[in-house]
Amino acid sequence: MKKASSLSELGFDADGPSFFRHLTLTDGDDGTLPRRRLIKISVIGAGNVGMAIAQTILTQDLADEIVLIDAVADKVRGEMLDLQHAAAFLPRVNIVSGTEVSLTRSSDLVIVTAGARQIPGETRLNLLQRNVSLFRKIVPAAAEASPESVLVIVSNPVDVLTYVAWKLSGFPASRVIGSGTNLDSSRFRFLLAEHLEVSAQDVQAYMVGEHGDSSVALWSSISVGGMPVLAHLQKNHRSAATAKKFDEAALEGIRRAVVGSAYEVIKLKGYTSWAIGYSVASIAWSLLRDQRRIHPVSVLAKGLVRGVPADRELFLSLPARLGRAGVLGVAAELVLTDEEERRLRISAETLWGYCHALGL
Ligand SMILES: NC(=O)c1ccc[n+]([C@@H]2O[C@H](COP(=O)([O-])OP(=O)(O)OC[C@H]3O[C@@H](n4cnc5c(N)ncnc54)[C@H](O)[C@@H]3O)[C@@H](O)[C@H]2O)c1
Repeated sequence: MKKASSLSELGFDADGPSFFRHLTLTDGDDGTLPRRRLIKISVIGAGNVGMAIAQTILTQDLADEIVLIDAVADKVRGEMLDLQHAAAFLPRVNIVSGTEVSLTRSSDLVIVTAGARQIPGETRLNLLQRNVSLFRKIVPAAAEASPESVLVIVSNPVDVLTYVAWKLSGFPASRVIGSGTNLDSSRFRFLLAEHLEVSAQDVQAYMVGEHGDSSVALWSSISVGGMPVLAHLQKNHRSAATAKKFDEAALEGIRRAVVGSAYEVIKLKGYTSWAIGYSVASIAWSLLRDQRRIHPVSVLAKGLVRGVPADRELFLSLPARLGRAGVLGVAAELVLTDEEERRLRISAETLWGYCHALGL
């Protein structure tokens, strides 16, 4: 039997006389005050990632209402109650849950983390097809319920699914964003910060392109405190036994360590959650508080940078300026070495292959 979680479910009348008395009104005062518009954020998919995002947003005092949607009714209700029970320690937030996307109505931000998991032996393309079917159920309904919202896609493969969400929602590309390499860049900045013994917040470093294996590190633009870092890394690199001079392989070693760190977490604890929670919550903050901060996120990239032709509709990560209206602009003047451009082109080709094959 389902336990009651509110006093009204225990038979106490929620519509009875108020515990507080209203002030006596003066002439011309109807008792209504101009109210601040409340901020509503919906998270579709209340798994490890969705819940880490919801809980991080909750601690940031960003939303007035958080809606959790999942296909598994008991699980999502349990997650809702668990968060509600922290009410005494947090600013007041209305937390709602259910299985129906219609509950997300009038959201400012809709974050999608729902996704099918890979079955052993299943190809990436097959997994993608299953996730596209899932997105066909979720995205048009979410777009209809919140036509003014910004959609943030987190489910993997995130770049292709952001393209799918863009197509299925009918939203302008500025309001469909993939969490992209915002997380990869944070991992990159963490590794560099540890090495340089500074705060990761003071490391300016970006990974762009596809989220995951083929992400591209922008080496020439890394800086700390306004100072370029690449020359320092080159000068201080010791290549094991051979005493070989510093080369591209040394940098590729760092990039691989960034990519590998995600796999390591998955190997150790089964999934990643906290870092992606903070990553998406920071994107949410920049969007809803109109911060105009620069995040490397997945955007419609056709023709924006060298390596991504104008006739190819695909999403990949580029440094983007985020504000209340979504993507306000994209850094199209990236300084890429020939190698970086070559890698970005490979990322773009791969992603376009997947998007094109879907025939949306
Ligand atoms: N972009 C990134 O940087 C990044 C990082 C980590 C994970 N991810 C991705 O995020 C996704 C979620 O990962 P997770 O670990 O939370 O997985 P999970 O299996 O724990 O959660 C997925 C949830 O989606 C729900 N779901 C399935 N179908 C649904 C539907 N039709 N409607 C509503 N909910 C539905 C499931 O019930 C489940 O609770 C995966 O695709 C994962 O690869 C992305």
